[in-house]
Amino acid sequence: MCNTNTNAITIRQAKLYDVPAMARIERESFEDYWSPDELTKDVTCDDGSIYVAVAMSGDERAGYADMRIVAGEAQIYNIAIAPEFRRQGIGEALLMHMIEKSRELGLDIISLEVRSGNEAAMALYEKMGFKQVGIRKAYYEKGNEDAVLMDKELGAVEVEVQIN
Ligand SMILES: CC(C)(COP(=O)(O)OP(=O)(O)OC[C@H]1O[C@@H](n2cnc3c(N)ncnc32)[C@H](O)[C@@H]1OP(=O)(O)O)[C@@H](O)C(=O)NCCC(=O)NCCS
Repeated sequence: MCNTNTNAITIRQAKLYDVPAMARIERESFEDYWSPDELTKDVTCDDGSIYVAVAMSGDERAGYADMRIVAGEAQIYNIAIAPEFRRQGIGEALLMHMIEKSRELGLDIISLEVRSGNEAAMALYEKMGFKQVGIRKAYYEKGNEDAVLMDKELGAVEVEVQIN
């Protein structure tokens, strides 16, 4: 059934009580989905190396993103939107939130890996200014698919300057 979503989207840090809904979104989004235990480990990590955010549509969990902070760099490990909430700008809002969070943390770069055949995700990342920086050939065993490495520099904010 199509979701006629008119609720405002809010994005906040994920908590332990979000895990069951996140696990459902995982199962519905990936063949190799993360278990509730794996999600719990990330959501409860309190050493500052992992940040997990959840996108709320009203009181429903529409999607989430998981990011690691490694050597001054943010790495998006996962982003998924529940099928009934896709194509409504929520993935874009969630990714923007992760970019802003990374800037807030003073990180220089945000990076990720994506299956070469994942057209929706690739289009989302390109729209958000990520650039392809490498390929890992046949990285994913299933389907013998390449991993595309992408990143986005966070330091410079683009401004248009007119010189007379
Ligand atoms: C990839 C994903 C997160 C996108 O989330 P979403 O909320 O549907 O995306 P949005 O509505 O914010 O779309 C933003 C942009 O992404 C691109 N996009 C999103 N879905 C697309 C699709 N099915 N086909 C082509 N482009 C798509 C478009 O450029 C879109 O901008 P536009 O609306 O101006 O055309 C979602 O499809 C998903 O959860 N997929 C399954 C999990 C997954 O593959 N995660 C990525 C792992 S690397």
